[in-house]
Amino acid sequence: MNKTDTLPFDGAITRFYEEEAPEAVREAIAEGSKKDILAESYPYDKRLDGDIYDSELEALQIELVKLLAHVKAEGVRVAVLFEGRDAAGKGGTIKRFRENLNPRVARVVALSAPSDREKREWYFQRYVEHLPAGGEIVFFDRSWYNRAVVEHVFGFCTAAEREHFFHQVPRFEEMLVDEGIHLIKLWLNVGRAEQLRRFLKRESDPLKQWKLSWIDVEGLKRWDAYSGAIAETFSRSHSTDAPWTVIRTDDKRRARLAAIRRVLSGLDYAGKEPDIVGTPDPKICGGPEIWNV
Ligand code: ADP
Ligand code: MLT
Repeated sequence: MNKTDTLPFDGAITRFYEEEAPEAVREAIAEGSKKDILAESYPYDKRLDGDIYDSELEALQIELVKLLAHVKAEGVRVAVLFEGRDAAGKGGTIKRFRENLNPRVARVVALSAPSDREKREWYFQRYVEHLPAGGEIVFFDRSWYNRAVVEHVFGFCTAAEREHFFHQVPRFEEMLVDEGIHLIKLWLNVGRAEQLRRFLKRESDPLKQWKLSWIDVEGLKRWDAYSGAIAETFSRSHSTDAPWTVIRTDDKRRARLAAIRRVLSGLDYAGKEPDIVGTPDPKICGGPEIWNV
């Protein structure tokens, strides 16, 4: 029996790696079996030490518990958007945010592809239903930005629909902010070799295979189309009211800490410890200018 018979999508990820991946990506992965970080341009060559990560994460999670208590007591509304290419680390980061929080108050929203009826609604309509009420934090694992990126790359929307989206999105977000919702837009940025390395791992690990989809497999070939769509998204939806924060996630540990710090540092709450919250590492967390470097 061929090894690939037991792999999802008939081993399409391995095949892409062996036959289609750009030379530089293939080399980085082949040479990188013992390397923590594959991207030459990443500002660190080792992952953050595990003990440092655990203790910083725990201290930040205690801050999140205080934030949530404040959110509940004061009826604050917080929406955090997680965007990024497949395998950028959205799900894993959201999980660290929510580990010690009441799941009813700190909800995650990960919508599936729109139903036939939803396709006939105003594009933003199904997201509006899930916006936070007073006393809630909502984590969007993907968001309305699907239309700007994945729907465009896969042809799930027309050019006119996307254009309409870009026309509406600044006004939509301005209304949310004007309404008093704290809107935080995080773009998790993964390097090309690291993304493929994560996919290869998912393909061969029975416990991770559920994370793979047809979109991931096909998306590998569309890296450049994604890049164009992402660049356009930043140029058309990064505003003073609703800025993008880019987080480089090749080191998942540093990325998770930076994401939590970014959220905590933008919000006031009782008992906040500024020394623990600190500021996100500027080498891996910034505005759209740090994307694609
Ligand atoms: P995820 O990375 O969120 O686990 P996928 O990689 O399979 O999921 O899909 C990426 C996104 O594309 C998801 O938000 C999914 O809902 C969306 N999507 C998939 N198929 C369609 C479609 N036919 N029309 C619109 N959106 C779609
Ligand atoms: C991620 O890791 O970014 C997502 O949560 C999972 C995926 O890419 O399929």
